[in-house]
Amino acid sequence: MSTTTVLQKAAGYKAAGRVFNFGAGPAVMPLPVLEQIQQEMLNYKGTGMSVLEMSHRSAPFEEIIHQTEANIRKLYNIPSNYKVIFLQGGASLQFAMVPINLLAKDASADYIITGSWSQTAFKEAKKLGQVRAAASSESTGFDRIPAQSELQLDPKAAYLHFTSNNTIYGTEWFEEPVAPEGVPLVCDASSDILSRPLDISNYGLIYGGAQKNMGPAGLTVVIIREDLLARTPANLPAMLDYRLLSDKGSLHNTPPTFAIYATGLVTNWLLENGGLAETEKRNRAKATLLYQAIDNSQGFYKGHSQPDSRSRMNVTFRLPNENLDKTFIKEAAALGLEGIKGYRTVGGIRASIYNAFPYEGVEALASLMKTFQEKNS
Ligand SMILES: Cc1ncc(COP(=O)(O)O)c(C=O)c1O
Repeated sequence: MSTTTVLQKAAGYKAAGRVFNFGAGPAVMPLPVLEQIQQEMLNYKGTGMSVLEMSHRSAPFEEIIHQTEANIRKLYNIPSNYKVIFLQGGASLQFAMVPINLLAKDASADYIITGSWSQTAFKEAKKLGQVRAAASSESTGFDRIPAQSELQLDPKAAYLHFTSNNTIYGTEWFEEPVAPEGVPLVCDASSDILSRPLDISNYGLIYGGAQKNMGPAGLTVVIIREDLLARTPANLPAMLDYRLLSDKGSLHNTPPTFAIYATGLVTNWLLENGGLAETEKRNRAKATLLYQAIDNSQGFYKGHSQPDSRSRMNVTFRLPNENLDKTFIKEAAALGLEGIKGYRTVGGIRASIYNAFPYEGVEALASLMKTFQEKNS
């Protein structure tokens, strides 16, 4: 398809009332899921009410929460010695809950610092216990993922924490760091959760907010190896206690019912579309298109991340100057390509292309990059 046709198609999409939403989160949802929500809004499966109005103790909601958990288990092939817990408070609350539950007073935990979110997780944990930075890529502007050989790991650490995808800088781990024998690996996967298959048995705990790759805001998913629940200290406030929340099947109090329902629909959609192996292929194809546009621009577009650390979820780049960044963002918006402004600490452009982001939108952005460069260089 020619560049002009792709751009005309994007403009037509906008005229029909939808844009290509490159926002970093809350982010694009699969269109069939939004349509199903619309269809079921007033009368969910003959109950005569919306899921918004439904008791979390009702039989239909119990079916929803069980199915959502079953879908996540199936997608990741989660072993039976792991629990899946649905929580609120975002990944930000996990920055505290992880040390509160897993970091004993006399122990220390290791953190790998690869961006603002891992820095925040580290700072939050520091308020609660002893922590060490096992590596940091700050000196090069968080443009890369450290090599295993750079990690200075404590063999006695309570856990090793890392952020699998750095949403702001656009870098991603494609192989998780290897923790010393017996040290559980803890991962903030907020911005690449369910984007590719993982061997869950390599992890002690994975957490992520739903609002980028999995569903709407309001839900946080924690996948935790059962034996780690024994570390939870006695007498924690109930809402901070992994063991209690897991024992109660995520129904200690009212969970974010609608977000769980919508996440159930998104995970159905992922299963119907080939599971995580196919999801990974689609994500790889989308990211490749944008990185090729950067690499073929003779330096007009400059990627923030080093090539071997490039995220498939958040593609970050700059134009030759800030004025051109602004004009590019304006021209993109006119075509219905929204939400591409980079995060304030990095600047430039950030295209977030999570699981539900359509390939046509990426084609449109790559086409705009080409025509914009022709006009402006
Ligand atoms: C990698 C990462 N971790 C944590 C957060 C914070 O998540 P929340 O807003 O769910 O607390 C974000 C939000 O963008 C993120 O991208």
